[in-house]
Amino acid sequence: MSLILGLESSCDETAAAVVQDGNTVLGSEVASQIARHAPHGGVVPELAAREHLKALLPVTESALKNAGVTMADIDAVAVTQGPGLIPALLVGLNYAKGLAQANHLPLIGVNHFLAHIYGAFLDGGAEMLKNPDTYPLLALVVSGGHTSLLLVDRDGSARQLGCTIDDAAGEALDKGAKLLGLGYPGGPIMQKTAENGDKERFVFPRPLTGGAGKPVAPENRYNFSFSGIKTALLYHVRNAAESDVASPGWLADTVASYQEAVVDVLVRKTLSAVKDFPVRTVVVAGGVACNAELRRQMSERLPRKVTLKLAPPKYCTDNAAMVGGLAYHAFKRGEFSGLSIDSFARLPRIVSVPFVEK
Ligand code: KG4
Ligand code: ZN
Repeated sequence: MSLILGLESSCDETAAAVVQDGNTVLGSEVASQIARHAPHGGVVPELAAREHLKALLPVTESALKNAGVTMADIDAVAVTQGPGLIPALLVGLNYAKGLAQANHLPLIGVNHFLAHIYGAFLDGGAEMLKNPDTYPLLALVVSGGHTSLLLVDRDGSARQLGCTIDDAAGEALDKGAKLLGLGYPGGPIMQKTAENGDKERFVFPRPLTGGAGKPVAPENRYNFSFSGIKTALLYHVRNAAESDVASPGWLADTVASYQEAVVDVLVRKTLSAVKDFPVRTVVVAGGVACNAELRRQMSERLPRKVTLKLAPPKYCTDNAAMVGGLAYHAFKRGEFSGLSIDSFARLPRIVSVPFVEK
């Protein structure tokens, strides 16, 4: 049995978790900085770094306490290395290095993007990863920073089929909410506001899906673009008559229609990949995977022959359980990071994933 302490500080959540054998989450703590960033309408990297510095120690202590263990029981320290905000990442990484060195433990740097995918397999799902029938696996990672489709084969090789060429899906929801004066972060607020709205009342564009009579260029078949949806919202608001805006239902209908455009593009692109490759499993992960409408439409619109694995909402948004879980696979192989590892801001090219048993 192995116990890994996972740490996460890539954006605006400080998190620590204790995960047993890459599967069972014994304790998971997340300290959100949302209230600190909300007045700025988005995450301020330097502010995030300072907040991580304050929160890392108490968050680690409560994760250990909730798990009923002490540092003496931990076998390795895993930490998000990137992608993310460098000032924020550096705080977590240096803290993890200190913790590993002081406790004579190996350090494992984890890719945050892959950790999001792994979040779908925590708390009992990891068995599925050992089953050859799970592959090819298609992962849609949708968060504030990512919108990507990754295809994973039975031998662990992987390739990114497509990604956003401008804004991420979460960013589109966050910026849309900001534009409508609804607050930050926009995703959950948009979902709530959309609940009573008519999603068919207004039509927002579905970029790169072949709508508006424009065929999709082959290189964009699995790519996403969300900045046009945001611009369409801006004009929708600007051009609306005052009496319309003030009328009951206008805001809810606007938000429901806007959210629908984002969700529809995500589902359509996933369906294109499912059509083109012999996909057996679709994973939806990342903060936007919390979205109830996305979850519902994925369940409804995917062909029955495909197994849908939606990450549990608590492991969709940033957390450290996914970090401690993914790190287990490097730990098992004795693949440790030296103390000289550095943070990275952007997603590197992915050619393989560590969680497939060869
Ligand atoms: O994974 P995450 O916590 O951080 C990143 O790695 O980016 O994702 C945060 C994103 C934000 O854009 C937030 O608005 C979005 O996830 N989000 C949601 C929901 N909950 C969080 N988007 C839509 N519906 C939700 N319920
Ligand atoms: Zn994330």
